[in-house]
Amino acid sequence: MIHLGVNIDHVATIRQARRTVEPDPVAAAVLAELGGADGITVHLRADRRHIQDTDVKQLRRTVRGVLNLEMAPHEDGGILAVALNLVPDQVCLVPENRAEVTTEGGLLIRAEDTILCRCIELLRARRILVSLFVEPDPETIKLAQQLGADAVELHTGSWANAWASCRGRREDPSLRHELARLENAAEAAAAIGIRLHAGHGLTYANVSDLKHLPALREVNIGHCIVSRAVMIGMQQAVRDMKNLLV
Ligand code: PXP
Repeated sequence: MIHLGVNIDHVATIRQARRTVEPDPVAAAVLAELGGADGITVHLRADRRHIQDTDVKQLRRTVRGVLNLEMAPHEDGGILAVALNLVPDQVCLVPENRAEVTTEGGLLIRAEDTILCRCIELLRARRILVSLFVEPDPETIKLAQQLGADAVELHTGSWANAWASCRGRREDPSLRHELARLENAAEAAAAIGIRLHAGHGLTYANVSDLKHLPALREVNIGHCIVSRAVMIGMQQAVRDMKNLLV
């Protein structure tokens, strides 16, 4: 079965909107694991817009499955130090740009990128499984392995956008093109034996259309799960408040 990492960043986004204590992403992680999550994913960004250092610290103590920390591959914002100190089970290195709403595009990997190589080396020396968030491109995947990564997470955002534009119509040329890119990338990963993960823009509607990717081990899904959790919980939350007003 494909491993599900639940990204709880947006629970922290709601909390940070008021700089208060609720909703608590650590409590959300406990509930996600009770619901069957195989892992919990959080992105500690340099601007600390949602997840905070203390969240990661507490999650390290409470998460029973895999704790996957997403971070940019450099020393800005002290995030590498947090990772080396707290030792999550897994780190996914992602590009980060302060102006973006969410992670845009995969990492640009170059063989001579000494900062990226050093980051991978330091994390692996702490026995942290290192994954690189990449575009579905066979050459990039080979390079990721050469640089020492254990896994690649394929950026599924373009495919998810194509899926949304045609509502999943399999014969749509742009959806076929995006799916072929993911399939080729997955085959390249399987051929060289690097672990394959995928994520970004996956939803309840589209995820089944990627289950056939060869050797896909893990998906990381955030926004749509947090969105659904808000909707599913709304009726009860209002009922609880009404009861206090009787
Ligand atoms: N994987 C990576 C590397 C990401 O940056 C994100 C977004 O934070 C996700 C998965 C989850 O994407 P989404 O919130 O669209 O499910």
